[in-house]
Amino acid sequence: MDDTLAARMDADGVAVVESVLTAAECAEVSSWFDEDERFRSTVDMARHAYGRGRYRYFADPLPPLVAQLRTELYPPLAEVANAWAERLGERTYPTTHAELRAECTAAGQRRPTPLLLRYGPGDHNRLHQDVYGDLTFPLQLLVMLSRPDEDFTGGEGVFVEQRARQQSLPRVLRPRQGDAVVFPVHHRPERGARGDHRVQVRHGVSQVHDGRRDVLGIIFHDAP
Ligand SMILES: [Fe+2]
Repeated sequence: MDDTLAARMDADGVAVVESVLTAAECAEVSSWFDEDERFRSTVDMARHAYGRGRYRYFADPLPPLVAQLRTELYPPLAEVANAWAERLGERTYPTTHAELRAECTAAGQRRPTPLLLRYGPGDHNRLHQDVYGDLTFPLQLLVMLSRPDEDFTGGEGVFVEQRARQQSLPRVLRPRQGDAVVFPVHHRPERGARGDHRVQVRHGVSQVHDGRRDVLGIIFHDAP
């Protein structure tokens, strides 16, 4: 991660970080989906017109594997977030996740946001942005827990950039099992003729054709 990650995020606004979890870890995390006591709430996407499928927010305390991933992946992402914030004249973020969480707590955002998502045949997630509360860390990630083409077909990650006075630009990613995809929560900077400006980014998932697609989502700020 590091310079390469920063360069890829600057170029494309999204980046794949390979092998953040092993196949065994992916299987273990997937197996938690039906263990009710691990979760604080469950969302049926169809009920809210978010799409189709279910996702579940982990309860505190987070499983150590999830907490560790969140803590370890935060510092390199904070570097990218801070470089972007400076370009856009926005606030910057602390260098450790513990400090960010302390800020969230002080702002009344105390509920953990990591989640597990499960998509079956016909399931999908409409394009959206994940903002919870006033304090928003601008990058988030997903970890693909299933094996594309073996466990499921369809179900591509879709990232759409909306530029002023231009048609929208879609990017489609197919991370392998254990890979993470880093992407903006709501926008990223783009250099234009008159300096940097914001490009809105929304994300979603195309329809799953067959099988089951499990994903771990990590959002770094907590929710009110
Ligand atoms: Fe999302």
